[in-house]
Amino acid sequence: MPFRIVRGDISKMECDAIVNAANSSLLGGGGVDGAIHRAAGPQLLEECRTLGGCAPGRAKITGGYRLPARYVIHTVGPIWQGGHRGEEILLRSCYRESLRLGKEHGCESIAFPLISSGIYGYPREEALRIAVEEIGAFLLENDMEVTLAVFDRDSFRISRKLLTDIETYIDEAYVEAHTSPRESAQRFEDARTFAAPSFTDALAEASFAAYPAPKAISLDDALRELDESFSEMLLRKIDERGMTDSQCYKKANVDRKLFSKIRNDAGYHPSKTTAIAFAVALELDLRETDELLRKAGFALSRSSKFDIIVEYFIRNRNYNVFEINEALFAFDQSLLGV
Ligand code: APR
Repeated sequence: MPFRIVRGDISKMECDAIVNAANSSLLGGGGVDGAIHRAAGPQLLEECRTLGGCAPGRAKITGGYRLPARYVIHTVGPIWQGGHRGEEILLRSCYRESLRLGKEHGCESIAFPLISSGIYGYPREEALRIAVEEIGAFLLENDMEVTLAVFDRDSFRISRKLLTDIETYIDEAYVEAHTSPRESAQRFEDARTFAAPSFTDALAEASFAAYPAPKAISLDDALRELDESFSEMLLRKIDERGMTDSQCYKKANVDRKLFSKIRNDAGYHPSKTTAIAFAVALELDLRETDELLRKAGFALSRSSKFDIIVEYFIRNRNYNVFEINEALFAFDQSLLGV
């Protein structure tokens, strides 16, 4: 999976490089800086002493010494001063410079902490959004395994509005799955009275036109689609959308090796998360998503939080797999992609 979000201590991660949220002296500190220096041992500090410090937004690389990682990429994030002193530009530069440096040194896997979101006080929702955007943009153009290591639940925060919207949607979808049509009609009327318009639209779709009747197609087309396998439908949809293979599997957060397996095996059966990841990459609506999943022997279910969260994003036409994974991670669900 090209981009993963995991809970854990970055100093323990086995990857080619880990990124250190350092200060401009590069001579160690608290937080993740302290954890990395403690785990790497004194030789890391000795090498850092030879670097002559590092400016905010820039990055420098050293050996990993006693760490499982081969390299440490030290980057200096901005100190939050209210958001009008170029903090966002500097924070974006930290991710870009670190990824560029890792790529220059042949790294195939890199782990990041949430830079500046601790002692430097960057608002966590914003820090997360910038991290996901910069890593996502890099992965659309490059092949690498990038991990965002979240040390404590508190430092990981998706936007409050998104969190509330999804929680409400989960509740309504759950109730919908467990009430009679008449009761859900009443609930819809109630919700229309109290919910924000955007949510009402989503609920309207969710409650009543769950999957609009498929458009009429000829018997030959119907039989052809019936016989079509998952990978045949996937490849047909890629062609219909004028996408390249790599655009599709990168948008799905699926690695190249798996995609070539799918392309070369008409009978390939993906996991449910992989099938959904491709539905998201192809920007399928719910009916087409349902059709693609059925080809792999799956269906979206109203009693699975994972499925309901994915359904929320598809109904809201948000097909950014990295943003969907942020939300899935926030709700302790597995992530999309492989
Ligand atoms: N593994 C992964 N993430 C960690 C770890 C760890 N072992 N320890 C802390 N974090 C997380 C924090 O929870 C936070 O979300 O890393 C993120 C960045 O927090 P800080 O380490 O405080 O870094 P930052 O906010 O960029 O401030 C940098 O702190 O440590 C000093 O010398 C450093 O002066 C510099 C400043």
